[in-house]
Amino acid sequence: MRALLISLALAAWAGGSEAQQAADAVAPEVGAFEVAGAAAPVTAEEWMIVTAHPLASQAGARVLGQGGTAADAMIAAQLVLGLVEPQSSGLGGGAFLVWWDAKAGALTTLDGRETAPQRATPTLFQKDGAPMDFFEAVVGGRSVGVPGTPMLLGEAHARWGRLGWADLFTEAQDHATNGFEVSPRMAASIAANADTLDRFTATRDYFLPGGRALGAGDTLRNPAYAETLAQFAAEGPAPFYTGDIARKITRAVQSARGNPGTLSLLDLALYQVKERAAVCAPYRDHEVCGMGPPSSGAIAVGQTLGALGAYDLAALGPESAEARRLIGDASRLAFADRGRYVADPDFVPVPAKGLLDPAYLAARGALLNGGAALSEVQPGTPEFDHALNWADNLPIEMPSTSHISIVDGYGNALSMTTTIENAFGSRVMAAGFLLNNELTDFSFASVDGGLPIANAAAPGKRPRSSMAPTIVMQDGAPRLVIGSPGGSRIIPYVTNAIIAYLDWGMDVQAITTMPHAINRFGTYDLEEGTSAEALAGPLRDMGFDVELRGLNSGLHAIAIGDGLQGGADPRREGLAIGE
Ligand code: GLY
Repeated sequence: MRALLISLALAAWAGGSEAQQAADAVAPEVGAFEVAGAAAPVTAEEWMIVTAHPLASQAGARVLGQGGTAADAMIAAQLVLGLVEPQSSGLGGGAFLVWWDAKAGALTTLDGRETAPQRATPTLFQKDGAPMDFFEAVVGGRSVGVPGTPMLLGEAHARWGRLGWADLFTEAQDHATNGFEVSPRMAASIAANADTLDRFTATRDYFLPGGRALGAGDTLRNPAYAETLAQFAAEGPAPFYTGDIARKITRAVQSARGNPGTLSLLDLALYQVKERAAVCAPYRDHEVCGMGPPSSGAIAVGQTLGALGAYDLAALGPESAEARRLIGDASRLAFADRGRYVADPDFVPVPAKGLLDPAYLAARGALLNGGAALSEVQPGTPEFDHALNWADNLPIEMPSTSHISIVDGYGNALSMTTTIENAFGSRVMAAGFLLNNELTDFSFASVDGGLPIANAAAPGKRPRSSMAPTIVMQDGAPRLVIGSPGGSRIIPYVTNAIIAYLDWGMDVQAITTMPHAINRFGTYDLEEGTSAEALAGPLRDMGFDVELRGLNSGLHAIAIGDGLQGGADPRREGLAIGE
């Protein structure tokens, strides 16, 4: 049955998948590099990169092949992604980066999350005292936070780069100037969002030229992005925060028709990328390490796994409804804690240690010992060093975003999830790139039942994220580099993939491909049109609400063992390249 589940999944996406077509399309250009098909991991000896677009993977592969580090390759890839996958990430957004430094033998993380402007208040997304409609808040300048990605790229290069900064811009400048082919996924995303892309002149002219939505296969040039890249290559991130590009950003935000924002030159000048300690949680004989607050990613992944530590998921197997009950309810318990406790740690005392305490997680795990779906899920009471009480909060987070996994020839590993939040972010464009709507990751309500909400907006605060760039360690060495887009579904996508790798013995391509079954807030989401649908009856019998739906992950993984193995999620256009 286990083999059947995987092979059904592989068959469903084989051949006609965008990933396979992309792999076929780029094979001649990448020469000796191995290219991912849908069925088997890409293998390599020296280095590997997996991103959401073949052109971005190729740019990073060129850099790695020339002796660049994972940080260098990430920069080249991100600059291309901002152009060819503009709906997901770019220079107008933010990112979290997890870095394994082979020489230092240490993990660290960089927080390049967007910040709220100085004039933001807890009622930023309220109208007449009530939460605004989500898209009314998203589209326009109000939702735009200070972009962190340009400074994050500069910081990563200053710390860990080896090639010259300007050398990392070659592919992005070439594609922006000479044009690139609009992918089927980008075209579908433009068509789906045409009504809001139409609202701002620069955005309309770029994505809907002459009133017609760009189609798959169209050649698209972006001279404004090429100009921005030239300035970025020559001067580094400074123009984005204190210069010419900063002025373009604030002008676009403040003049956004119908829904302007307050983002100012002062806000941009105050921005900082923050180094934070990696947050790790034990699972089986591994340490699962990732991004702590303001992301809820590592805590929620670690909590879900921690609550499952006493259960033999390997014996149950992936097709077992009992395994899915345990995983789904462990996830619900983690999401309950996330909703109450996790926010920007520079503003809110997050009980990260208590939430990941083994005794606390064992107690949470014991709640699963019943055989039926939990009828009620409440946040727990982790050990806490502040006498604070928060109300629960579940803001809407949309499944845009992109993930980059890289291992370089020096043994460094990089896991970075990067975003402009919603598809096409705020829809406001400046200097050739889209500006994020990350501030809508704050709670729209500021209090509930008289209690404050930890993730309410405040000046200079970073909204809570679900991004979970992860590096799984064993015996002090990295074993698996993984992450995904998908809004708050990122957390179960990544958690399930780690379980599939460690407990169910699947390879890295299979863990990106396997059909999804995930539960965050009570409803069990099963991936429509896959063998996961077979779980619907048994899960309903256990008391779960079940919904069949599309689940558009973008898992990109690299396994590190005797060699390297890479897997790219066939639901997107991603590509693993290694040598
Ligand atoms: N905006 C998606 C996230 O940060 O989780």
